[in-house]
This record gives sequence, structure tokens and C-alpha cells, in this order.
Amino acid sequence: MQHPVPDYLRGVLESIRHLEHGEVAQYIPELAQADPRPLGAAVATVTGRLHSAGDDRTEFTIQSIAKPFAYAAALADRGVETVDRFVGLNPSGEAFNELSLEAESKRPDNAMINAGALATHQLLVGPYAGRQERIDRVVSLMSTLAGRQLSIDHATFESEMNCADRNLALAHMLRSHGILHDRAEDIVAGYVAQCSVRVTVRDLAVMGACLAAGGVHPLTGERVLGSLVTRQVLSVMSASGMYDAAGEWLTDVGIPAKSGVAGGVMGALPGQVGIGVYSPRLDEHGNSVRGMEFFRRLSEDLNLHLM
Ligand code: DON
Repeated sequence: MQHPVPDYLRGVLESIRHLEHGEVAQYIPELAQADPRPLGAAVATVTGRLHSAGDDRTEFTIQSIAKPFAYAAALADRGVETVDRFVGLNPSGEAFNELSLEAESKRPDNAMINAGALATHQLLVGPYAGRQERIDRVVSLMSTLAGRQLSIDHATFESEMNCADRNLALAHMLRSHGILHDRAEDIVAGYVAQCSVRVTVRDLAVMGACLAAGGVHPLTGERVLGSLVTRQVLSVMSASGMYDAAGEWLTDVGIPAKSGVAGGVMGALPGQVGIGVYSPRLDEHGNSVRGMEFFRRLSEDLNLHLM
């Protein structure tokens, strides 16, 4: 039997498949070897319908799309006031791997850039938590949101740890400003582990739909995150989720979204849908080329622009 939504999604995927510019991420050896061809997408409604097409069961590492979830966990664990002391709320206007600290407070500009994600990771669980506890916390939250147990891709983890100089440098700078207090190596390892969690576009769509539903799981009806936590995550994601392209993205597409350098993009349109798309070739900002085009098409065809 034909179904209009998967057929529609398939049609959009076929219409963007010819886009072959951009490159798979080069700076992490394991990602540099990735097959550039896969293309998959999924949409989950806040009322619990999940549709997908293309390479919808292919696993890839979540990378920076873990940042909004680690931020959500830190906000839930430590409260807004504490988290706000260590990480800001404004777009940095710089690339995701720049230091981008606020002049006076020395907090990283926001939780969607690497510096902010390192500060966020430190806050997980509680002030005395260890490296493994923090990793377990964020993997467990992401698993609950995806509705299945997610796992870490150890090859990608090791590969990124072998060339983590830049994140280590950021962590050392944050330590020098009193934003981090644990060993830089432990924070970076925890952060890289959260980036190395394997997901599919179906997972991303359901996780996005949880955010879109204000923290209530669309498939189980369970409240997983508080509504204020969810609101803060979505706000920061809207302002900074697509990095230095965030303003253009909000204007053009109008769907809060977060990208990852493995080629995933997750969107969360409040009150409506979560969206996941995967295609590994990236533009100069580190956003999936076809992924962005998929979002543009959906926004236009289905009138999803927030404004
Ligand atoms: O820390 C890094 O550089 C990567 N693990 C994640 C960066 C990322 O996904 C940026 N996104 N577009």
C-alpha cells in the first residue's frame, strides 16, 4: 500500500540526491573515510507518528547534535542559574571550534559550540561526578529520548581522541578561566564520547519531536524533560544551532535545528514535528549540504517556517 508521507519524503530525497558538492569531515580520520553517498530522512510528529525514507536505518555518529541534549541534562541536573553561570546564551558568530568566550564572565558564548559543550559536559550530574558518570548520564538521556538503548562507536571515539588537540586546547583555556575544574583530558574524553553515540535519522526525528513537544516523549507520553529546560534548549538551538550560519538558517528555513559533522541534522519545530536527516558531505560551516536542502524543501512545501 502506498503511504503519502514516506512517498513525499522519498520524492524530496530523490530531488536532492544530485547535490554532490561539499566534503565529508576531514579532521577526524574515521569520518574522513565515511561513504559520502547515504541519504536518509525521518519525520516524527508530537502526536507519535514516525515516517522515514531512504537510508533510514543507517547508523552514524551524532557528533554536535548531542550538544542540545547534554545541555538539557545539565540544566535538569544543576538548574538554570548554575548552568547560566558557566555557559552563555548568545550566538558566537564564529566557527564551532573557536574559543568564543564572553569578555567579562569568560563563559563560552553558548552550549552549541565546542567550548560551551565542554563547559556543559563538566556540569552533568553534580559537582563531584566522575568521567564515566557524566558519559552515562548523557547517553542515558539520549537513549530515553530515542526510545532505544544507544551505544558509543569506539572506532570514532578513538579516532577523534587521537587528534583532539583543538578540543584539549579549548579545555585548557577554560580551566585557566575557572570554567572547567576537572582534568582537561577527562572532560574532552567525556565530550568526545557523547559525540560518538550512534544514531539513525529515525532516532533524531523522535528526539527532536520530544523537544518539539516541550519535553514529553511522543511515543510513550512520558515527561522526560521539564518544559522550561526544553524551552531554553530550543531557544539556544535556534540562535546558535547552525553555528555562524544560524541567522541565515532561521531566516531561510525557520526551523530550530542542530547539525553534526558526521552529516546529521536534527530539527525541532515547537508543537509540531521532529526531523532527522543524514548525508555526510558538509559545507564550509560543517553543516550537511543535502541535509540543509532537505530542510529548505520541507519548510517550503509544508509551510513549516516558524514565522
Ligand atoms: O568536537 C568536534 O569537533 C566534533 N566531535 C563535533 C563537531 C561537530 O559536530 C560540529 N558540527 N557541525
